[in-house]
Amino acid sequence: MLKKLADRFGQSLLKRRRRFQKIFPFLKHFHPAYIFGFILLFIMTMRFVIFPSFVLLERYVRTSIEEALGYTLVPYSVEVAFVVLVVATIFTARKKIRRHLKAQPIKGETMQAMIYETYGEPEVFHATLLKKPKQGRDELLVKIVATAVTTGDINMRGFVYVPHGLKWIARVMLGFKRPKKELIGHVFSGVVEAVGAGVKAFKVGDEVFGMESSGTGTYAHYKTIAHDKPVVLKPATVTHEEAASVLFGAMTALHFFQKAKLSAGQSVLINGASGSVGSAAVQIAKAWGMYVTAVCSTSHIDGVRNLGADEVIDYTQTDIHQEGKTYDVVLNTVVAQGDFDSFHTLLKPKGTYIAIAGGLKDMLRPLWGVLRGQKIVAGPSAETKELLEQIASMLIEGSLVPVVDPQVFPLEALAQAHRHAQSKARRGTVVVRVA
Ligand SMILES: NC(=O)c1ccc[n+]([C@@H]2O[C@H](COP(=O)([O-])OP(=O)(O)OC[C@H]3O[C@@H](n4cnc5c(N)ncnc54)[C@H](OP(=O)(O)O)[C@@H]3O)[C@@H](O)[C@H]2O)c1
Repeated sequence: MLKKLADRFGQSLLKRRRRFQKIFPFLKHFHPAYIFGFILLFIMTMRFVIFPSFVLLERYVRTSIEEALGYTLVPYSVEVAFVVLVVATIFTARKKIRRHLKAQPIKGETMQAMIYETYGEPEVFHATLLKKPKQGRDELLVKIVATAVTTGDINMRGFVYVPHGLKWIARVMLGFKRPKKELIGHVFSGVVEAVGAGVKAFKVGDEVFGMESSGTGTYAHYKTIAHDKPVVLKPATVTHEEAASVLFGAMTALHFFQKAKLSAGQSVLINGASGSVGSAAVQIAKAWGMYVTAVCSTSHIDGVRNLGADEVIDYTQTDIHQEGKTYDVVLNTVVAQGDFDSFHTLLKPKGTYIAIAGGLKDMLRPLWGVLRGQKIVAGPSAETKELLEQIASMLIEGSLVPVVDPQVFPLEALAQAHRHAQSKARRGTVVVRVA
């Protein structure tokens, strides 16, 4: 953990150093320790000059303003104005540095990518050239063949399906005014183009698939990923499109099934059964020997039944809350359908509520569930190599069948792909063909 934090801190320092060196190329000739020492010495020497000068300047500004206005200023108003001025200057400088860096020509090999610089509708995506990534010692470089539109990407782009109470937290994490990360995309399936010296489990030419929310995005032609992250050999039984489509939903569903410790023989109600997570959940539940009641709209009934659901409820015709049935497990993937409060009447006395689309309230009250004798499972999903290996095995044995929307989009049409994924016309996970 500490090593990981130190690594991350080191990498971010290196990135900043490279940026500064781009603006002030002469800094390359000095070791960072010398530069740091020089800055420290400069501050120590100058504080005797800077601070008294600042006090004198502040007194001068204050008396000049007071004389001009004819009344005494509120205490600390000059200091506050000064701090505001400094902060505004720093922000303007940051913007200018960013613009300056973007205008620089890219040195070395480039790759096509779709990025976004502002939150909003799907049309915020635009094509650009980025530096082609280079694999580190423990990484592989993957030439991406297919990626997909996940609700994770839609949320990062426009906060469309962010559960209640989490929007502001998401904004703080992703970038308050504008996205910190311009290249997104969670899932990929592709071919290994190069491997670092420390990688033994993969070789050039291997077909792999994987998922990484925190790494470099997949809406691009290439991606690097550490070999111990969620990346495994793609089963030959599925195409790149199918592999990319199944990852997000299956990883989420499997994580929550294991976290909730579900078991064979239990009855489960899956609300939102035609979605990426829902369609994987139906199949995993059947593979685990559970009795599945799936909820979806009219046009998806046949599809969900084909996935193995024992009963299918059309939510446009039937209100599940009026059915009078209760279940061992209720799994909700629909943000708009509310939280535990809306579903607890559908649970048996010792039932489990899985809040896949659960908001802050669901995350904060597992204890309340325990007091009622029921269990609430919420929180963010994990993505691990172990889960991915299980998904690969299920794909090979055929207990997990990818549900791909018939309309596959090229990477340049990413905006249309996002728009289609958000529409009612969607018939499965929307796949984006990269190469
Ligand atoms: N906790 C986590 O870490 C985590 C991880 C992944 C996803 N999520 C969240 O889980 C949610 C679902 O993700 P997803 O990728 O599966 O989304 P999705 O593919 O868009 O599926 C959502 C499904 O909800 C169904 N739906 C809409 N209104 C409904 C209603 N009134 N009653 C029943 N079903 C309804 C839709 O079915 P019809 O088309 O049939 O209407 C749709 O298929 C998202 O909010 C996402 O943010 C959370």
